[in-house]
Amino acid sequence: MRTLVHIHDLSFAPFISETTIQTRVKELAAQLDAEYAGKNPIFLAVLNGAFMFAADLFKQLTCQPELSFVKVSSYVGTQSSGRVDELIGLQTALKDRHVVIIEDILDTGVTMDKIGTLLQSEQPASLAVCALLLKPASYKGKHQPQYIGFEIEDRFVVGYGLDYKELGRELPAVYQLIN
Ligand code: IMP
Ligand code: MG
Repeated sequence: MRTLVHIHDLSFAPFISETTIQTRVKELAAQLDAEYAGKNPIFLAVLNGAFMFAADLFKQLTCQPELSFVKVSSYVGTQSSGRVDELIGLQTALKDRHVVIIEDILDTGVTMDKIGTLLQSEQPASLAVCALLLKPASYKGKHQPQYIGFEIEDRFVVGYGLDYKELGRELPAVYQLIN
């Protein structure tokens, strides 16, 4: 794992290694398989941040999952703007389907609440959230997410899909901001 990573004006230190992530991804996949086998689940990966997590998770799943990518945006720099756009990219009817949202990180929960509300109106049979990271100290979401990779402190992180001003997504591990 690389030591320090410099992105724009900030520096980041190793936080969650690639091996640790992959081990946890396998555990999450096993949990999801146990719950969704035989249910024809559809997973909705939220772009851009969840692309790497979704890809790794999918390589482990055996529950015959469908996959669709959706997009929203609520973030500028290192602080939530509180603004969330519409959900775009959804082309499959979700009525009576078992739906799992795949997210990179749950911070305030504003994004997930908005996505949850939009998706509930489609009347899915069930709706669950699988996020790689959760910041419990800042999370104010209406529902507790069912599948979480790691609970982390309220500190800005990059890598494994997560960006700082659009850079850092390619890193295979998660790095945290140092000051
Ligand atoms: P929320 O609406 O505050 O929960 O923010 C959710 C979105 O903000 C995530 O999907 C990320 O794109 C972004 N985000 C939140 N925390 C971080 C972070 O530490 N690093 C990079 N992006 C973050
Ligand atoms: Mg994001």
